[in-house]
Amino acid sequence: MKNKSLISIHDYSKEDYFKIIQVASEFEKNAGQASNLLAGKIVATLFFEPSTRTRLSFESAVQRLGGRIIGFSEASSTSVAKGESLKDTVKTVSQYSDLIVMRHPIEGSARWASEVADVPVVNAGDGANQHPTQCLLDLFTINQTQGTLENLTITLVGDLKYGRTVHSLLQAMSYFNPKFRFVSPKELKMPNEYKIFLDQNNIEWSEHEDLNLVLPESDIVYVTRVQKERFSDPIEYERVKNAYVLHKSMLEGTKSNMRILHPLPRVNEINVDVDPTEKAYYFQQALNGVYTRMAIISLILGLK
Ligand code: CP
Repeated sequence: MKNKSLISIHDYSKEDYFKIIQVASEFEKNAGQASNLLAGKIVATLFFEPSTRTRLSFESAVQRLGGRIIGFSEASSTSVAKGESLKDTVKTVSQYSDLIVMRHPIEGSARWASEVADVPVVNAGDGANQHPTQCLLDLFTINQTQGTLENLTITLVGDLKYGRTVHSLLQAMSYFNPKFRFVSPKELKMPNEYKIFLDQNNIEWSEHEDLNLVLPESDIVYVTRVQKERFSDPIEYERVKNAYVLHKSMLEGTKSNMRILHPLPRVNEINVDVDPTEKAYYFQQALNGVYTRMAIISLILGLK
C-alpha cells in the first residue's frame, strides 16, 4: 500500500483489507494515547462536495497521529472559482502536501487526480462511483460486530442506484461468500452491472419490496439515504424519498447479532426510536472511520 493511491476498492487486495483492519484495531485499542507517527507530514483535504464525517474523520485521524492538515471544504474559496482546472489545482496542492484526500462530484475525477498528482491520492467519494475509505470502515465495523466477514447475509436498503457506498461494499464483500438482499424503490434498484458481477462470482442475491420479509434472516442491515442531490427531477425524489423507513417495532424477531449500519447522513430512513436499541450501530461506525482512516494514512505513507 506504500505510496499507492486509493481510488477504488479494487485497488486493494483481500490481504490489504485485513492489514487495514488489523492496524485500525491497534489504533482503536490505543485510542486516547498521544502519537507522533505523522510528525512532519502534511495531509491536504480537497472537498468539492459537502461532507461531515469523511472530511472531519480524516482531519481527526491526522491530528491524532501528530500530523498537520491543509485544505478546503468549499471550492468557491479557491482559485477554482477563477476558472483553474482540477489538474492544476491537484498538481499545485501536491507540491504542498504528502497525501491528498479528495471528494469531487464527477465520477472518475479521483483517478484523474491520482494521475496528475506528485503524491498519493485517496478518493473520498467521486460522484455515484466509489467511496473506498467508507467501504474499508464498513468492513472494519462488520468484522467488529460479527467477529467475521465470512458467510453473512447483508441487506442493502434505500438508494441502491446512486449509492456509492453500497457499490463499493458489495464488491469488497464478494471475497467473503455473502448473501445479498436488495430492498429499494423500483426507480433506485441495484444497477445491472453489479448484479452481473455477483452472478459471475457465484454470489447469491435477491430483490425485495417488503423490508420486513428479509429483516429476520439479516446479519447486517445497511440502510442508505435517498440522495436528493443525484436527482434531476425533484418530483421523482419526492415520490421515493420516504419509501423505506426503519422503526424500532420492525426489529422484533431479528437475529441477536443483527446490527444496523448507515454511512450517514440520515434524513428519515431510520426513525430516531431505533437509536437507543442495541441493534443501532451507525454512530460507532462513524467513530470507526477515524481508526480506519488512521490506518489507511499510516500505511500509504509507509509508517506502519
Ligand atoms: N459517510 C459519509 O461519506 O458522510 P459525509 O458525506 O458526511 O462525509
